[in-house]
Parts: sequence; C-alpha cells; structure tokens
Amino acid sequence: LSRLKARILEANREAARFYHETLVSPAGKAGLDYLRSRGLSDKTIRRFGLGFAPEGWDALRNHLRAKGFSEQEMIAAALTRQGRNGGSYDQFRNRVIFPIIDLRGSVIAFGGRIMGEGQPKYLNSPDTPVFKKSRGLFALNTAKATREPRLILCEGYMDAIAVHQGGFDNAVATLGTALTDEQARLIAQYTSEVVIAYDSDAPGQKATRRAAGIFAKTGVKVRVLTMTGAKDPDEYLKKYGRERFARLIEGSANSTEYAVNRLKEQFNLETDDGKVAFLREFCPLMAGIQNPIEADVYTTRIASELRVSREAVGQQIQALRRKNA
Ligand code: UTP
Ligand code: MN
Ligand code: MN
Ligand code: MN
Ligand code: MN
Repeated sequence: LSRLKARILEANREAARFYHETLVSPAGKAGLDYLRSRGLSDKTIRRFGLGFAPEGWDALRNHLRAKGFSEQEMIAAALTRQGRNGGSYDQFRNRVIFPIIDLRGSVIAFGGRIMGEGQPKYLNSPDTPVFKKSRGLFALNTAKATREPRLILCEGYMDAIAVHQGGFDNAVATLGTALTDEQARLIAQYTSEVVIAYDSDAPGQKATRRAAGIFAKTGVKVRVLTMTGAKDPDEYLKKYGRERFARLIEGSANSTEYAVNRLKEQFNLETDDGKVAFLREFCPLMAGIQNPIEADVYTTRIASELRVSREAVGQQIQALRRKNA
C-alpha cells in the first residue's frame, strides 16, 4: 500500500466518523429526521455508519485539517474538490451519507443523498487511488460477515439497507443499475447463488437482463425476483413486510424460468402464429439444457399452457439435441 493510499484510507475513516458524529449531533437533525422518515432504525443507522454532511463549504475540510490531513490528501481522497483560490471545498454538502466499505473494512468511498427532491439524487465519490466504481459494491462487508451461500443483489443503497433491516443479512447493492464484469467476479468469489432484486421499472428490468447475462459467464447461479405493487425492495418491504419479501425470494425464478418468462412476453400466445413463433425460440432453449428432466418439466408446463401436443414439442427438442451433439 503506497503512502498516499494509506493516507486516503485514514482520511476516509476520519470523514466517515465526522459524518456519523454530525448526524447524531444537533447539527445533523435534518439528516437524522430524513433517515428515520425513510423507516431506518437507529440500530440500522449505526450498523451502516450512516452520516450527514452539513451545509456550507468547509465543515469536513476544517475537521480534516485539524486532524492533520493536507489539502492534497483530501483532494486525492475526493473528499474535497480543488477550488479556484488554491484551497479546496467539501464534495458532499447538505446530504445524508452512505459510506462504502470494502471486504477489509476500509472506507473506500461515499454516496450522498439529497434530502427530498433535486439533482443529482445521489452524489458518489469519483474513482480515486483506493476506489474503482466498476468494482465497488455497497454492503458487501456486512453481507460477507454472514457467510450466507446466497446473495440478494439490489440496485440502491436504501434497498440493501432496508433488506438488511428486514432481517436478510446478505444484501448488497451495485452503485446504480449497470453490473460490471468486475463486480460479478467479486460476487462469484464467495457466493454460489445470487438473487437479482433490481427495481421493477423499465431500467431495472433492463439491468436485470444484462446482469443475468453477465452472471451466466461466472458460474454463479442466478435467480430473479419479480416484484409487483412496489418499485423497489425498500418500498416493497415497507408496504408488504418481511414475510412476503421472504416468499418473493423463495419463489424467485431460476435462470431457465426467467428466460422462458421473458420469451413469453415477446409473443402473443393467444394466436396460432404467436404460439408457433414462440415455440421456434423455446425449443432451442430447452435443447440447450443439460438435464433432460429439467427440460421436460418446462416443456410439459408450456405444452399444457399453450394447449399444444407435448409429443410434438418434445420431438422437436430431441431433433435439436441430436443436431447439437
Ligand atoms: P434509484 O433511482 O432506484 O434510487 O437508483 P433508490 O436507490 O431507489 O433511492 P431512493 O429510494 O430514492 O433513496 C438506484 C441507485 O443508483 C445510484 C444509487 O446508487 C442509487 O441507490 N444512483 C441513482 C446514483 O448514483 N445517482 C443518482 O442520481 C441516482
Ligand atoms: Mn471537528
Ligand atoms: Mn432505480
Ligand atoms: Mn428506492
Ligand atoms: Mn430504486
């Protein structure tokens, strides 16, 4: 670890401490009220070390300076930004703060949410010598400690936290919607199964398709959770409670079910033409499944749903299997 990296990590730790202490002091009342209004308990707030960056331009800067950090170190950590007069000013102002902590327990970056409406909703640390956004995962540190064989992958900070608070210790969040190969590899290093629990809106669904494809290359088993009536896991848990969320996880689709469901959405299965077009895609999908019994389960279900002959579909799949062999 270079001297600069070590100093950045120290500055980050001190900043996280400052933000958290500010949150629970009178100066952080707006932040604490906001987090409580989002349904977070004080225990959860402590567990994730959430914080508050006060209004103004130099609260953190002055604090870090008093602790012996140089302007250069603060800028390198992206805790402050270079100003015009040679000095620097705080990157995060008047936002609630989410520290991002790596597997060693080091604070490597921060996310800051505006309280209420406004742009950007979340401000994140840019890449620094100790942080690469494309590798970053929020709450991986807490999830890892539980040694669960299965991870719940969310889109947002608040989702991962709400899922934790709901009693599922194994939730992590990508920082935004686009999962990278690096994040997928990191996840693959210590879990064998991922439940993708992205937002139910169009961008979330698009990101789900992409993520499922990326995980397919890593050998991690994928399940996909489908929510209705709520836009994300945080909202779902608030509306329907943890038991129903647990049932969503248990009932989440495996990768084949997910692929079949997606295919079904693409065709009008009420019409003969639609059925034929659907089966033209469905049969190769089934022929690609290693386990013939698994393929048989889906084939039987689809044949009965479409009211077509099980034998005809099965023969087509067999023919494709022979061709592939
Ligand atoms: P969402 O827009 O779904 O927000 O973005 P959210 O997580 O549900 O947040 P709340 O509930 O409104 O507070 C999902 C994630 O994308 C990243 C953040 O990591 C966020 O949690 N994001 C979103 C940003 O980095 N910047 C943004 O401006 C918005
Ligand atoms: Mn101070
Ligand atoms: Mn979203
Ligand atoms: Mn949300
Ligand atoms: Mn969301």
